[in-house]
Amino acid sequence: MTIDWVQLRAAAVDAASRAYAPYSRLRVGAAGLTFDGRLITGCNVENASYGLTLCAECGVVSAMHATAPTSSPALDGPSSMGGGASGHAPALLAVAVVAGDGKPLLPCGRCRQLLLEAGGPSMLVETTGGPVPLSMLLPAAFGTDELATRRDPGTT
Ligand code: THU
Repeated sequence: MTIDWVQLRAAAVDAASRAYAPYSRLRVGAAGLTFDGRLITGCNVENASYGLTLCAECGVVSAMHATAPTSSPALDGPSSMGGGASGHAPALLAVAVVAGDGKPLLPCGRCRQLLLEAGGPSMLVETTGGPVPLSMLLPAAFGTDELATRRDPGTT
């Protein structure tokens, strides 16, 4: 599928304009393209209890699942590591994140981890230098493999 980065960035810019960020005054917008061609957006939402802040990328990941055409096989296993590429679960192919100035903003560490499970290591993230795979931004990541292979036997 062709990724229209101009359209994706424009959607992120629009989402950033809707951010609720009265405390940091840093607007953030994110837009994701799913493997099934859906364009999904999110913006940051802050709270007087600062630690409750929701990043824009959180909104995208939540909306990706919430608006999926079919129920997610959430109980059958994680959708991560490119699961969407095989068509079994909603997944992101590409993401653009911008600040209120309209320029790319690199996702925070927590969001990189969240995006990993929503798009896998090959998911493309826009940077000022162009799109890069998420694995470049989150190398040697903790992932579902560790859960599968390292947990105590007999647990699920
Ligand atoms: N923020 C995001 O929305 N995404 C990121 O990846 C980095 C940070 C938001 C959270 C907070 O509302 C503001 O930016 C300042 O940290």
